[in-house]
Amino acid sequence: VAVRSRDAWSRGAWPDAAPDQPASFDPYELQDTIMGDVRDPFPALREALRNGPVQRGFLFADRHEAEVLPASSLYSVYGYEAVNQVLRDHERFSSAIYAEVLGVVMGRTILEMDEPEHRVHRALLAPAFRQTALARFEDSLVRAVVEELVDRIAPLGRADLVRALTFPFPVQVIAQILGLPRKDYPAFQRWSIELLSVTKNFERAKAASEALRAYFAAVLEERRRRPADDLVSELAWAELDGERLSDEEIFSFLRLLLPAGVETTYRSTGNLLYALLTHPSQLEALRADRGLLPRAIEEGLRYEPPILSIARKARVDAEVAGVRIPAGSPVLVSLASANRDPSRIPDPDRFDLFRDQRLHLSFGTGPHMCLGMHLARMESRVALEALLDRFPDLRLDPDAEAPYVQGVAFRSPPFLPVVFSPCSRHR
Ligand code: HEM
Repeated sequence: VAVRSRDAWSRGAWPDAAPDQPASFDPYELQDTIMGDVRDPFPALREALRNGPVQRGFLFADRHEAEVLPASSLYSVYGYEAVNQVLRDHERFSSAIYAEVLGVVMGRTILEMDEPEHRVHRALLAPAFRQTALARFEDSLVRAVVEELVDRIAPLGRADLVRALTFPFPVQVIAQILGLPRKDYPAFQRWSIELLSVTKNFERAKAASEALRAYFAAVLEERRRRPADDLVSELAWAELDGERLSDEEIFSFLRLLLPAGVETTYRSTGNLLYALLTHPSQLEALRADRGLLPRAIEEGLRYEPPILSIARKARVDAEVAGVRIPAGSPVLVSLASANRDPSRIPDPDRFDLFRDQRLHLSFGTGPHMCLGMHLARMESRVALEALLDRFPDLRLDPDAEAPYVQGVAFRSPPFLPVVFSPCSRHR
């Protein structure tokens, strides 16, 4: 680990080493432990869907939820219509289940709130994540972060795009949106990963949660005294009907942003790159017509969502697709299976930027639909644009191990070795 860590640091994935991090710390190594090693869950998901859109039990024995949810009473939802129905029906299916799984370390966040409380809190947070509000970050921040990382590999002619770009860039974007100093980024990512691996190592997650609370408390105090153009200042002063967010609510939301905004985008960008690099004719089509990029991003999300499933709990006895789900049952909602439901999406196992039907549920739907989806799309677009601009002959490295996508809770390629004609730095 120590050798690979030094390698990672020296490859310059991080702008500055945090002084309090041990030399052997490699955030990438740490996160690798929470992925699970299933490479292709889709045949099993298809088989499950064939048996019905809603079923008792669950599919993957190594899912992290399985360790905390009572498996015997668990129901799984696989069909597109059924997934859509459960996620929109907040009256019968509650999000409070996240309090049991994530709330312990995250604090009380909008993810676990039901209506009407959820609506009020989300309304306070939403303005910062609107497309128009995010536009100001695109050039000054997202593109700047991406270009800096791409600059580092440009002269080399080869790179692992996961370590060099997809892994380090979303955390730097979130950190900058929050207005955190660069020297804190490595610690910030470490806490994020530790927080997320709560079912694997509760004590470590709890410690990370407390560390983040203390860290954000200092930042918040500073922004209350001296507001800046960043999200922490916005949250500190956000007001709805005379209501302000409490400090604890702000800390919880900031903690949620780490896994929500960092883990997902890094994985979805890697998944899209994987799909394009392993379908060279589609990559060519995209190079020839950049107008296809929004389609490519949606198709990448449909084909390989970074989060395979999300959770709800039945509040009352409910029936979905003819199956009775008793009150109190945990429900695992498979976004990955819905995205490949052949009754809604023709030839769903084909990655195809040209498909007409671009339905997917990777951002969820209903009241909890992803708050950060515009940011996530923008980040992927900027990363892809930079790679296409700088490396017109970008392709998989024929001499390296063939990449793959892996994981059942979260999913992405662990590495993406590529080659390209070396070029000079951008600026
Ligand atoms: C491709 C990247 C992303 C994917 C696939 C994704 C997926 C999701 C999904 C499926 C949900 C719904 C969870 C549920 O209903 O139980 C969700 C909620 C959420 N996401 Fe994302 N997300 C992504 C990126 C982001 C980013 C970049 C941010 C913020 C910076 C973010 C912030 C949130 C928040 C705050 C919620 C909770 C919304 C609520 O409960 O009302 N996400 N996301």
